[in-house]
Amino acid sequence: QSVPISIEFDQEAAAQKLKIGVYFATWWALNVVFNIYNKKVLNAFPFPWLTSTLSLAAGSLLMLVSWATRIAEAPETDVEFWKTLFPVAVAHTIGHVAATVSMSKVSVSFTHIIKSGEPAFSVLVSRLVLGESFPLPVYLSLLPIIGGCALSAATELNFNITGLMGAMVSNLAFVFRNIFSKRGMKGKSVGGMNYYACLSMLSLLILTPFAIAVEGPQLWAVGWQNALSQIGPNFIWWVVAQSVFYHLYNQVSYMSLNEISPLTFSIGNTMKRISVIVASIIIFHTPLQPITALGAAIAISGTFLYSQAKQ
Ligand code: 3PG
Repeated sequence: QSVPISIEFDQEAAAQKLKIGVYFATWWALNVVFNIYNKKVLNAFPFPWLTSTLSLAAGSLLMLVSWATRIAEAPETDVEFWKTLFPVAVAHTIGHVAATVSMSKVSVSFTHIIKSGEPAFSVLVSRLVLGESFPLPVYLSLLPIIGGCALSAATELNFNITGLMGAMVSNLAFVFRNIFSKRGMKGKSVGGMNYYACLSMLSLLILTPFAIAVEGPQLWAVGWQNALSQIGPNFIWWVVAQSVFYHLYNQVSYMSLNEISPLTFSIGNTMKRISVIVASIIIFHTPLQPITALGAAIAISGTFLYSQAKQ
């Protein structure tokens, strides 16, 4: 009798693995497309606060239409839900704008090399803010992460301090976002897709006034005309693509977060960065010194060691 049960179990486990594999592949592919179009837009139209706002607006609109047409079922939320979501949305907004500001100043690959150092921020925040302690191998794994990122930054040909700081602020903000979302999602009936939809909407409300204050419609109008005359009507499609793909990759990543442990998620995220770094270097012909690439490889290997050590 135990044989059929184990076969059934194997089949279930294989189906679950396949499902996660499909989630991961979709997440990485959507993320690569987002990063390419985001950088194309920022090269022609250097307004990261507006492009960040448009990404959130596109996602909010897509989800409102999906709920209205019942393609997706709208979640039932209460005031308590929005209250717990608020700190998550603040962190998401800061992390998103900071990463986009970074990408407007440096190459996509450089931003993502620095962003591969996120585990180091996670350990520091958990240690210093939450008072958690970790086994020695976890701390040791931070050495290649920090050393590799530092080597890449020190030898980057197009180094820019705002680009570096933006990626670091984004890392810090996303660590807080993960801590707050773990608390917020606990015991809630809102699934990954709708949770991310609500997060986009709240972030959009938070970000819009800041985007107007920092950049504003007058600069946008001039920049938009310039970009249109430089690129032609295709520029509008680039903006649409970067906005829609931003929402889609995040939505898929939140859907997979529902299915897997945070650890598997962070390994997936690191592998995503490898795809983005390689694809963007090829597409944008990013000049890269071997020593910078070595720094990136050390940092990324460090994040794998970190995942092992945490396990
Ligand atoms: C953003 O604009 O939010 C960042 O590019 C996101 O970075 P990540 O999802 O790859 O951490």
